[in-house]
Amino acid sequence: MSWCCTYSLLPPSTRLQVTDLSCSWQLKNAHQMLPSLGKKPEKQKKNKMKQFYGFQTPSTIVAYYGLKTPPYKLDALEPYMSKRTLEMHWGAHHRAYVEGLNKQLANDDILYGYTMDELVKVTYNNGNPLPEFNNAAQVWNHDFFWESMQPGGGGMAELGVLQQIEKDFGSFTHFKEKFIESAFTLFGSGWVWLVLKREEKRLAIVKTSNAITPLVWDDIPIICLDMWEHAYYLDYKNDREKYVNAFMDHLVSWNSAMARMARAEAFVNLGEPKIPIA
Ligand SMILES: [Fe+2]
Repeated sequence: MSWCCTYSLLPPSTRLQVTDLSCSWQLKNAHQMLPSLGKKPEKQKKNKMKQFYGFQTPSTIVAYYGLKTPPYKLDALEPYMSKRTLEMHWGAHHRAYVEGLNKQLANDDILYGYTMDELVKVTYNNGNPLPEFNNAAQVWNHDFFWESMQPGGGGMAELGVLQQIEKDFGSFTHFKEKFIESAFTLFGSGWVWLVLKREEKRLAIVKTSNAITPLVWDDIPIICLDMWEHAYYLDYKNDREKYVNAFMDHLVSWNSAMARMARAEAFVNLGEPKIPIA
């Protein structure tokens, strides 16, 4: 879960946002806070800056998003997803999305101070994505994907998630068949999701292409599966069927799904009297 802190003592354009423990800090637009230095000699400028900053060197502030670590060791999903795949998928691909996003944001004065969820929605721009959208969405999708799996996962859903699946898909077997079929029939790179439809108050399986995430349609994701080739090629080559079955049988985290469902129910109220309305 991302976290952030905002320093309201600074003007809005210089607010800081830190969304992960691994983030770095810089001070952006700090020069705008400086007294006007005009064309004063260099020595006077340095003295003025010293009065303003004290003994600290001025720097630049930008929003930084960190690379979150999966909630298990990189070899914990073996033999169904290898350490080698995690090192490449998380350590190289996911990292590249984070670094690409930070690079884009460093040159942006408007996309500033958002949580990652907000940034994804804002940069989707009602279906006309801004250049930052792909990186932002891929960072969010991958964070969600790592937490959609667990060592010793897979098998049958339990408790509330199982009840809801049975209610909306008829049976767990039917849900599983539909999820696997959606993964097989996804053309090109993309994602398969189990989501809670906010308006209809029911679960659904949706496919998205490239970096698109159901967040942008206001669906509430419960589980996702990465169907980009980089997710499975090292372990399964082009055998997508084997990869998807391994995910369903040995990797998917129904514990995460239960926690996400509980949170989602609090927002949409599925009709259970015991569920509070947010
Ligand atoms: Fe991926």
